[in-house]
Amino acid sequence: MSGHGSPVPMTSHPSGPLSGIADVPGDKSISHRSLILGAMAVGETRITGLLEGQDVLDTAKAMKAFGADVDRVGEGEWRVHGVGVGGFAEPDTVIDCGNSGTGVRLIMGSMATCPITVTFTGDASLNKRPMARVTDPLALFGCQAVGREGGRLPMTLVGAAEPVPVRYTVPVPSAQVKSAVLLAGLNAPGQTVVIEQEATRDHTERMLAGFGAEITVEDTDEGRVITLTGQPELKPQTITVPRDPSSAAFPVCAALIVPGSDVLVPNIGLNPTRAGLFYTLQEMGADLSFENMREEGGEPVADLRAKYSPKMKGIEVPPERAASMIDEYPILSVVAANATGQTVMHGVKELRVKESDRIDAMATGLRANGVTVEDGPDWWIVTGKGAGNVPGGGLTESHLDHRIAMSFLCLGMSTQNPVRVDDASPIVTSFPIFEPLMASLGASLERTGV
Ligand code: S3P
Repeated sequence: MSGHGSPVPMTSHPSGPLSGIADVPGDKSISHRSLILGAMAVGETRITGLLEGQDVLDTAKAMKAFGADVDRVGEGEWRVHGVGVGGFAEPDTVIDCGNSGTGVRLIMGSMATCPITVTFTGDASLNKRPMARVTDPLALFGCQAVGREGGRLPMTLVGAAEPVPVRYTVPVPSAQVKSAVLLAGLNAPGQTVVIEQEATRDHTERMLAGFGAEITVEDTDEGRVITLTGQPELKPQTITVPRDPSSAAFPVCAALIVPGSDVLVPNIGLNPTRAGLFYTLQEMGADLSFENMREEGGEPVADLRAKYSPKMKGIEVPPERAASMIDEYPILSVVAANATGQTVMHGVKELRVKESDRIDAMATGLRANGVTVEDGPDWWIVTGKGAGNVPGGGLTESHLDHRIAMSFLCLGMSTQNPVRVDDASPIVTSFPIFEPLMASLGASLERTGV
């Protein structure tokens, strides 16, 4: 099954050392937000280092449909002429967000307080994912939504003509929900307050402040209380998108499990709300260092250096760390398979509603490659086989999920036998240069029949 053209079956062969420099693409979360906030500002926002993955390109197309001028002027270089807060026009066509949960949920938030009607759809993966988590709080502003059973896409939203501000406690740890409410709050009068009990990635808060909105964040007994004053005039920005730690995770983890490897991954954003994987790997005994630590555009940035680490041990990953590495559990489970002992991952229910049910997808594929995995509703345990002892040889399914496809391709670089992935086409959503980049480091990826 492919949502991105024809399926691309791929085989990853056990590889020699991986070495060299891995220049990974721009951060997906920040790229979506740059386009959306640029479209809501007045004047020209200039973006460099934008991730040109399909998810972000779909958001760029949506912003054009809402009336913003969005132009690509060079590789990763984009200009957005925004229409101002509340200035979105009603699109003539259905907004197709492809595979992107972040795209659709943030865009829903950004139009929910504009007097326009918009129909959203996506690919087979996105059309299965829950949207009520966003449309419920958007209803409090006065936005109506009608969709398929269970709050699924396709779905039509009628934005509030006379929005009211909202105070909302986010019931699941989700930066997408938090961000949707904040973006809707931009065009409501007065103060919109969002409370999150667990801190999730805070790019929206940082970027809203950068665009000139009045926003405060307070840590209280209730949780993290974010207060946004509505109806500001957002000022266009010049944005340099840092490189994506969630994409960096793949060459970093591959280097840790392929004998003799030594890979440098430069300029990686290390926002503490995103960096949980790297600290977890260090706890497991990974030879991973942060070089040239610095601050760029208000975000901590470093060059990551990862070397083959045959002595890693399984650990318990605490639930409170989940939000800071939520997209990295699939590739962590691949590292865990190459460590000794058990890696226990708690508090990860959200993994079941990502681009795929990521616990199920990884557990099934790891088992097909000779690894023991147990799982429950919000936990899973991978029993490591030790470095170089994973048999491999299995066929895995990516379930339209880029991170599942990339995780199994990294697994195959370290196994005794090749690992096959039924469809690597979803990788274009977040890491379009994955295949040539990994090949340039020494990986052996082959487009094959399954
Ligand atoms: C994202 C938030 C996370 C993450 C996704 C990107 C964002 O999703 O999994 O890849 O940019 O806000 P949730 O908000 O559903 O946790």
